[in-house]
Amino acid sequence: MSARILDGEAFAARTHRETAGRVEQLKSRGITPGLVFIRVGEDPASRAYVSRKEKRAQEVGIASRTLVLPETTPLAALLKEIDALNADPKVHGILIQAPLPSTLPNDVVYARVSPAKDVDGFHPLNFGKLLLGDPSGFLPCTPAGILEILRLGEIPTAGQHAVIVGRGQIVGRPLALLLARKAPGADCTVTLAHSRTVNLPSLTRQADILIGALGRPLFLKKDHVKPGATVIDVGVNRLTDPANPRGYRLVGDVDFDSVKSVAGSITPNPGGVGPMTIALLLSNTVRAAEDLSR
Ligand code: GUN
Repeated sequence: MSARILDGEAFAARTHRETAGRVEQLKSRGITPGLVFIRVGEDPASRAYVSRKEKRAQEVGIASRTLVLPETTPLAALLKEIDALNADPKVHGILIQAPLPSTLPNDVVYARVSPAKDVDGFHPLNFGKLLLGDPSGFLPCTPAGILEILRLGEIPTAGQHAVIVGRGQIVGRPLALLLARKAPGADCTVTLAHSRTVNLPSLTRQADILIGALGRPLFLKKDHVKPGATVIDVGVNRLTDPANPRGYRLVGDVDFDSVKSVAGSITPNPGGVGPMTIALLLSNTVRAAEDLSR
């Protein structure tokens, strides 16, 4: 039997329709939500991600633009740009695309974004609110998008064992906290596994919900998966492929072709977590505009 596909594009289209409706309401009050992306350097993957997000934002009626800064931008110059956006009343959301050049300290840069405009949920205040269960903060978009996939895919979560492979700051760690919350769509028993975990397959085979978020191409195979489990693939990895005109192809952390025969439900990749991450970014941006215009 082949797994049910959790179609992130279709789920995202639903979320985008709701977001577009909220944009209309704001516009009827004379407010156009504004989102600015900051991209430092010319990393090809970042260029592609940012332009996709900018295009989607425009499709739902959000005024979006990208500020492109050179790879050699000094910290002080970047902070000055962030300060100007923090002070600009037309800008409701600010997203600084990761990864930053290694010369720039992530913690300093992300902490400079006004928490009220931090639609990425990367500011320490928003991360702290997530930890405390304070709903006034912004949730990071990929973990929040995964919760939406589980909700819209009608995957039961209460009492289920979720195993997250990958403890990164953007996905694994916040997702572990969110899935363990005492709340509808959560209430999971969570295991946060990682590259140093001993005997990983014996753990992942206990998962009712298995999430690959470690950034290793096609890492999770059929043998990692309990029959009937829900499998969510967060990875975006480049795999060398001489047969491809670009010289590489993009693959997830999950070996979809082998896992789909054992999983109960699975996200495709592309077309799973990625589109939902963008959908949550845009709904966070509209919420920022609603909150800032109250
Ligand atoms: N790079 C990869 N994922 C993300 C994300 O969610 N936000 C930002 N700003 N950069 C990223």
